[in-house]
Amino acid sequence: MNDFIFHNPDKVYFGRNQMGNLPGELLKFGRKVLLVYGGGSIKRSGLYDQVISLVRGSGMELFELSGVEPNPRHTTANKGAALCKQEGIDVILAVGGGSTIDCAKGVAAAAKTENSDVWPLVSSGVWVMDALPVVAVLTNAATGSEMDAWCVISNMETNEKIGLGGDALIPRAAFENPEFSFTLPPYQTACGAFDIFNHVLDNYYLAGDATFDLVLEMQEAVMRTVVKWAPIALKEPENYEARANLMWASSMALNAILDAGTVHACPCHCMEHELSAYYDITHGHGLAILTPRWLSYILNEDTAPAICRLGEKVFGIKKSGNVADDAKKAIAAVSAFAFDTLGLEPSLSRLGIDQTHFRAMAEHACGGNGIVGLRALNAEDVVNIYEMCL
Ligand code: NZQ
Ligand code: ZN
Repeated sequence: MNDFIFHNPDKVYFGRNQMGNLPGELLKFGRKVLLVYGGGSIKRSGLYDQVISLVRGSGMELFELSGVEPNPRHTTANKGAALCKQEGIDVILAVGGGSTIDCAKGVAAAAKTENSDVWPLVSSGVWVMDALPVVAVLTNAATGSEMDAWCVISNMETNEKIGLGGDALIPRAAFENPEFSFTLPPYQTACGAFDIFNHVLDNYYLAGDATFDLVLEMQEAVMRTVVKWAPIALKEPENYEARANLMWASSMALNAILDAGTVHACPCHCMEHELSAYYDITHGHGLAILTPRWLSYILNEDTAPAICRLGEKVFGIKKSGNVADDAKKAIAAVSAFAFDTLGLEPSLSRLGIDQTHFRAMAEHACGGNGIVGLRALNAEDVVNIYEMCL
């Protein structure tokens, strides 16, 4: 087990009756609020009206940045940053899914730069230590952005989708009412669930089970929770327990608790961000297609015990004594979860993706040093995995 520092200052208000605390959290930073939201789901659900009335009713002045895209663009974040400077915004309120919260973080960081431009920060890989405060109201259990230090911003002109991180990007407060995700369409529910599952799996077993059992057991608990409750949320979108379990799993997967004492890796995420950058696909769907192929590709004597343990602990597969066979059964269980239970299309070609950009995507994903994870990958490996997904 490695030494570690754990610090997550995000204050989470979880449950049905927490929104009354929103004005107090915003007023800690001032009276001028920039509300950031997406393409209109919060207007259709009534959440927009609720937020407006809470904020204005408490004497705050409200400005808006609407229309944040899934896979949020740097241009949208820049627009928000310019507005922050022009109006002297004190705090940013993101109401939506991961894209909205990510865009709000991009706005928060860019607002502190001279040119109100987030892209130089993103492309330089700087760790952001100064940003406007962000408060999040979550509507989609998926990305963990409500509790983590990251945002992922896309530049469609250059086909790049890159993470920007920093202590200053952790939301100061997050409101997680599972009811806000009742209106989520089945496809987004499925993609969000697989995203949570993969956040943990990408990072699974990296410290070895003998040395760090506590984190492994917690990782498995989060994955088991997704496997158990996602199908229930799909069948019964207004099942509070299902939505609540998924929402807290979303936060737990990336709030750094599961990184303690181990190393953070994200092999499928590195490969998926290239797919979204080139083809603007839904993040969780790209992960679902990649993950079982990645597991098959990396399966060897060294990785089989980890994959076998995944099958046993997460999918309840009884050990046969043959580790390689059991690992294959575990991979089959991951496929069945993604494509049968969640109902996601199983191949890139079904999403209209062919081999054209595989080499460029693989090289960009590897960034010169390769991809770390349960097994290290180079660009050749990544091309091979993309081809297995066709
Ligand atoms: O835009 P609106 O109208 O709000 O509709 C959204 C959008 O169309 C809709 N939606 C969200 N909540 C809803 C709802 N519709 C009805 N009812 C609700 N309650 O769902 C669609 C997708 O929303 P989006 O925010 O794009 O989904 P998600 O939460 O999965 O976020 C995906 C983005 O987050 C990034 C992804 O790469 C992607 O860009 N990620 C961010 C991470 C982070 N910050 O740490 C890590 C992740 O690995 C991920 O990369
Ligand atoms: Zn993800």
